[in-house]
Amino acid sequence: MTTDWSAGYMAEVSYTHGFYRELTPSLLEFAALLSGHRAPQTLAYCELGCGQGYSSNLLAAANPHIQFHATDFNPTQVVGARDLAAAADSTNITFYEDSFGEFVARTDLPDFDIIALHGIYSWISDKHRGEIVEFIRRRLRPGGLVYISYNTLPGWAAAMPLRRLLVEGAAGAAGKSVFARIEEALRLAETVSGVNGRYFAHNPGVADRLNRIKGQSRAYLAHEFFNEHWTPFYHGDVAAELAAAKLSWITSAFLLDRLDAINLSPEQQQVLNQIDDVSRRETLRDFMVNQQFRRDIFVKGAVRLLTGESHSLWARQRFTLSVERTKVSMKVKGAMGEAVLQEEVYVPLLDALERGCPSFTELLTDPALVAMNPQRVQQALMVLVGVGYVQPVLSDVGAEERHQRCRAFNEAVMRRARWSSELQYLASPVFGGAVMQDQVSQLFLLALTEGEADPSAFVWRALSRNNQRMFRDGKPLTDDADNLTELRGKYRVFQVDTLPLLRRLGIA
Ligand SMILES: C[S@@+](CC[C@H](N)C(=O)[O-])C[C@H]1O[C@@H](n2cnc3c(N)ncnc32)[C@H](O)[C@@H]1O
Repeated sequence: MTTDWSAGYMAEVSYTHGFYRELTPSLLEFAALLSGHRAPQTLAYCELGCGQGYSSNLLAAANPHIQFHATDFNPTQVVGARDLAAAADSTNITFYEDSFGEFVARTDLPDFDIIALHGIYSWISDKHRGEIVEFIRRRLRPGGLVYISYNTLPGWAAAMPLRRLLVEGAAGAAGKSVFARIEEALRLAETVSGVNGRYFAHNPGVADRLNRIKGQSRAYLAHEFFNEHWTPFYHGDVAAELAAAKLSWITSAFLLDRLDAINLSPEQQQVLNQIDDVSRRETLRDFMVNQQFRRDIFVKGAVRLLTGESHSLWARQRFTLSVERTKVSMKVKGAMGEAVLQEEVYVPLLDALERGCPSFTELLTDPALVAMNPQRVQQALMVLVGVGYVQPVLSDVGAEERHQRCRAFNEAVMRRARWSSELQYLASPVFGGAVMQDQVSQLFLLALTEGEADPSAFVWRALSRNNQRMFRDGKPLTDDADNLTELRGKYRVFQVDTLPLLRRLGIA
């Protein structure tokens, strides 16, 4: 069933409540710095196709100095987004229930420093892509950034027919609910694979992909594969479309893409280094790494930082570790496989980042790092931020208001955790972005906030009310006492590892 307003986009089931880190203003600004480009001072931020609005809501709480505007034409999602904004007392975010076409026509919007769209461009028609380009042309300030993600070729090439197979399967259950259509789609794809359809034999990896798809949330699958439009793009084609809005590409927002050593062989680097045209080079790079999904940053009017400006921005930039130290792996993955992080650089760096929010200058004068080449430290910071272990920290200006706003937002999220596990991120006033915390951790935190004497028992009461169970070895625990024991074990780890982290990030 499609409805008139949805123009072929999936509207029967709401999208998931994800948070996408690349939307974070401080991260986008840091990515611009890494690429040697000037970032705007962000005062107005727009998200197009905001889905449940969770990312924009969280970012608004964590960045009260920025005015956020977000639109999505699905009213069910907009209701939830507005409810959360109200529960968090957020006054710097406005949600619109506009289609992209309606949003372009508005005359009551400011000009924006950042326009972001995640998970949109590959899933809509040519016409709607045109509306987005026109919106950016009209509404992005000179110097403004665009963050845009899309399914990419050639990485999707082998699996494109799998999507078609799923669509064929869904048609076999036409008229039924989207969930029934998805099951029918998966059944048909499995049948074709099961009878050794040669498509699967000739495209190794597609059967594995089908297996992965089977385990994914149905709401996600509905929005990924069952829209009328689904177009993976070559980077060069997206860059050409966005050139009409005067945009030029500056970098990937997925910072590990910047690390040639883990993604490209020396021979591949040599081939790419001979190409001057940025768009062609990026497109060919996608052939080298078989890119499937791109997270690009474009700018309207690229201005290169002078060397001195770049040094001064680096010198002041502060960083902090945003995960428990026990969760830091000393390996990093790129298209070429895994690389091991050199202990002599990373261990002292992580030690310093775990102690607080040192600036780059402070890191360079840390006794354990002072002998290190500054470029090596810079590179290591890029890797750690790229993996998501470390975050670029916001300035102290406005810190008090950020703390208050994040507290209100996090409390609204934690209150929801009593009934649901769908909101999995809390806002940090330290870096203006999100920290993943599951429902159980949120409830532990809520118990502490509310002065509960026995947080584990508090959490178990909440979970059992919802008929939720803890799991051990992948199996649900049926017995009350077993659930409580499991929770007590988790609470000990929470106290030792998580709570100090959440305190440092201004969340607890
Ligand atoms: C795959 S979801 C991504 C949502 C969100 N950006 C995220 O990543 O969680 C795509 C969203 O775009 C919205 N959308 C699709 N076409 C649209 C249009 N023409 N105007 C406004 N919103 C649209 C859908 O309702 C949906 O919420």
